Amino acid sequence: KGGKGSSTKTVVDVEAESDSKPVVRILYGTQTGTAERFSKALGAELRRKYGESTTVDVLDVENYKKPEARLPKERLVLFLVATYGDGEPTDNAADFYTWITSEAEAVENGEKEAYMQDVTYGVFGLGNKQYEHFNAVGKRFEKCMDVLGASSVVRRGDGDDDDCIDDDFEKWQAELLEALEGASHLVGAASAEGAAVAEAPEYAAEILSGPVAKSALAAPFRSGTGASAASPFLATIAEVRELHTAASDRSCIHAEIDISGAKGLSYTTGDHVGVYAENAPAVVAEAAELLGLPLDTVFRLTTPAGASGLAEPFAGPIALRDALACFADLLSSPHKENLAALAGAAADADEKARLLHLAGAAGKADFSEYVTKQHRSLLEVMRDFPSAKPGLGLFFGSVAPRLQPRFYSISSSSTAHPKSVHVTCSVVRDVMPTGRVHDGVCSSWLAAAKRGAAVPVFIRHSHFRLPEDDHAPIIMVGPGTGLAPFRGFLQERQALIDDAAELGPSLLFFGCRNRAHDFLYEAELRAFEESGALGKLHVAFSREGAAKDYVQHHLRREGARVWELLKRPSTCLYVCGDAKAMAKDVHRALIEVVAEHGGMSGTQAEAWVKDFTDKGRYMRDVW
Ligand code: 2AM
Repeated sequence: KGGKGSSTKTVVDVEAESDSKPVVRILYGTQTGTAERFSKALGAELRRKYGESTTVDVLDVENYKKPEARLPKERLVLFLVATYGDGEPTDNAADFYTWITSEAEAVENGEKEAYMQDVTYGVFGLGNKQYEHFNAVGKRFEKCMDVLGASSVVRRGDGDDDDCIDDDFEKWQAELLEALEGASHLVGAASAEGAAVAEAPEYAAEILSGPVAKSALAAPFRSGTGASAASPFLATIAEVRELHTAASDRSCIHAEIDISGAKGLSYTTGDHVGVYAENAPAVVAEAAELLGLPLDTVFRLTTPAGASGLAEPFAGPIALRDALACFADLLSSPHKENLAALAGAAADADEKARLLHLAGAAGKADFSEYVTKQHRSLLEVMRDFPSAKPGLGLFFGSVAPRLQPRFYSISSSSTAHPKSVHVTCSVVRDVMPTGRVHDGVCSSWLAAAKRGAAVPVFIRHSHFRLPEDDHAPIIMVGPGTGLAPFRGFLQERQALIDDAAELGPSLLFFGCRNRAHDFLYEAELRAFEESGALGKLHVAFSREGAAKDYVQHHLRREGARVWELLKRPSTCLYVCGDAKAMAKDVHRALIEVVAEHGGMSGTQAEAWVKDFTDKGRYMRDVW
């Protein structure tokens, strides 16, 4: 399996690498796995093309240690890096990002000479055009490498997740491969036998026959520290309740997660929690049926020697029911390589041809129509191709992407609830173009979770922090579930008041559709206002009157008071919630308020807001 080119080692000892054989280092910064997926595909393509003449190393940028010594010695380094949230790097790229930024700054300030003249690089950024800071991280990597003296081999690719990011990547990859033609000092010589199509990587799967004692089965998750996605802590659900009234046709839940057994696991008000949820039993049952295997099939996966591109297999022996519930993304749309892998299992020639067509360059428009536009799920596709029954090794290796954790802004205060993490989460339910009712995996799981249920979680630290000075005024803007971190902030302020602290002024702008449906935590917010933890609550009801009433309208209306607070030296402004429309509109309203009440021109107001942002006083937690 895999042919000649796939024997490349994945961890490379720099010192031991011979000079004669070029190394291509692919470093990825991923949050939901897309950059990792593209990096592995690119790695496989380079291996296929350059065979034994080149070493290709695909590495999570987090594991690229001692970059100061290593990076200047690289010949060709390719960065595939995603931008997350408010123009930020992904968790795994954060350290590298900080490092490379400060190196480039040192060169720009004349404290250091540029020292990467021997390095050639390429950057593919992953982002979403709907967001304000589109591909900010990719752009930053490019700029830093340039400042450090490295030369670029191909122009930066900008992947737009709002459209078809796979197409953007393929285009960039084609440009890169073209740029590498004849560049044998970077990639060695193209190998003649390299033309074979790379096969989809698969695990070796062993199905255990006969009854297996429950105690012999591996738990899907072992309890870890809870400090990172790789080591979640097995917490328990302490409480789940609905926040909308019966009049609402939507659902939003409040969940409390007990982290009291976790040694050394702590969070700070304003942090995020990552949650590993399970697919619903009906979804799992359908997947098993499509695979043609009983739910209680017990199996074990291992990575065969020489296989590349496979993630660490989950522990076994495991029941198919658990593996499908915890590790397979069954409801997202499959990617082209998933269809190609599925084609490998199709017994019917027509089905195989159709799947290969959809996965190939010629089927681009059909893929877009059949998969992307219809939001067709992997299960729906498998239902359309019944002869394709992949074995478990192929299914978990290449057909079903790994189910990813979901992130929520924690809605409790770590001072008030050090051992409990609160989550405020809209329950996702959408009707897709195919008529399928899509229930969000994590929100539905949380909504249905019973008290005492185990849930693997981990904490992700954020920069969303209350000011250190309790007297500093704060302005909070958070419509919908954007309210979450502010509930934490207010609990924190309540704890300070209870401690007889004096607090600075505070404003909260909250928005919802209708006061009788989705006014989240109304009683709690009123109580905070009563106690003084909150100075003033402004609520925009968007669907009560004929015209939309949004938080930014209230911000403008309260402009005089807002400006009076903003111009003080220690005031902080916080915005949480939807990044695509709300955060942009609020940003515009902010500039208008500053211009109008600060007596500035539009340009001056923009400069004022930029300076305010640079001082770290304008914080956003947006998604
Ligand atoms: P709508 O759904 O009636 O349009 C929480 O989702 C609240 O945010 C809802 O009241 C929603 O209103 C509102 N909202 C939608 N788009 C917004 C925008 N661009 N700016 C501010 N609030 C918005």
